[in-house]
Amino acid sequence: MIDGDAPALGDSFGRRFPYLRLSLTEACNFSCSYCLPDGYQGEAGPRFLGVAEIQRLVRGFAALGMHKIRLTGGEPSLRKDLEQIIEAVAAVPGIRKVAITTNGTLLPRRLPGWHRAGLTALNVSMDSLQRDRFHALTGHDRQPEILQGLQMAQALGIASVKLNAVLLRGVNDDELPQWMEFLRERPVSVRFIELMRTGDNEAYFLQHHRRADEVITQLLEAGWSERPRYPDAGPAREFGHPGHRGTVGIIAPYARDFCSSCNRLRVTARGDLRLCLFGEFGVPLRPLLQSDDDFDALLARITTQLGLKAAGHGLHQGQTGLIPHLASIGG
Ligand code: 5AD
Ligand code: SF4
Repeated sequence: MIDGDAPALGDSFGRRFPYLRLSLTEACNFSCSYCLPDGYQGEAGPRFLGVAEIQRLVRGFAALGMHKIRLTGGEPSLRKDLEQIIEAVAAVPGIRKVAITTNGTLLPRRLPGWHRAGLTALNVSMDSLQRDRFHALTGHDRQPEILQGLQMAQALGIASVKLNAVLLRGVNDDELPQWMEFLRERPVSVRFIELMRTGDNEAYFLQHHRRADEVITQLLEAGWSERPRYPDAGPAREFGHPGHRGTVGIIAPYARDFCSSCNRLRVTARGDLRLCLFGEFGVPLRPLLQSDDDFDALLARITTQLGLKAAGHGLHQGQTGLIPHLASIGG
């Protein structure tokens, strides 16, 4: 079914979900100070979804009107079968965009294969433009590979390339001028993400949380202006500048109206549907991904659960929900 034939997925608060964030693994090869400071500690449990399960899942969402899938983690490029996964997802009728969020270390080696398999958009995490800081933050001195990967993405003509940088007080919050310089000639978008408090990072959060609205003030003072929001654009506020090819997006989960514009729908690496990053429960879809015969039951379970998406998270009340850190579900 192609998009337009099916009503877009929505919930009872009028929000629509134009894309699905699908985590492929909880494992990560980085140890970012706010996420996995001691690195990934493999947890026992069922293995992650396989290619056939993923394809059934994506067929289900596509039949309900979804046309974009974002592959996340953990670090999705640690999956040996990532190229097959991209190919399987891209082949589902109705899916027009296949995006990935990655820490970028494998880009130089793997990006051409992902591109051939059908990848259309790339988000790379890069919390600092300074190599020594990047090393200190992630535990790995691998920024040169990421920059090389970004050049490769442009050479391959990948339509959408975005960088993610988590704002950290006293760590990288003095780099805005350097970012503006970086964006002068590069047609990429950098998204500054406000640090979120999770179960594991409370002390770090209290020390390093930097409010996003202070960055917005700095952007406006430097001549940047806010772009109109498109329907379904998601929770980022976009800024542009006539002298710069690149753009800036701000993702501020603590902003008052954030939840009403949230269009994120997640499935964990073990197949649980999560309606909010900070929700208290997940709905198991995996039992319905074992056979094509369960297709109708899968559609019914997804639509029933969407009616239940809560109108807002409890972050302001200090609630952090189920998640110990974002590697467990994908940011
Ligand atoms: N707060 C904000 N962003 C986070 N990410 C991981 N943990 C957090 C957090 N606690 C980000 C990563 C990456 C994206 C996938 O999620 O840095 O850019
Ligand atoms: Fe860093 Fe993302 Fe890995 Fe967490 S999952 S350690 S934020 S690269």
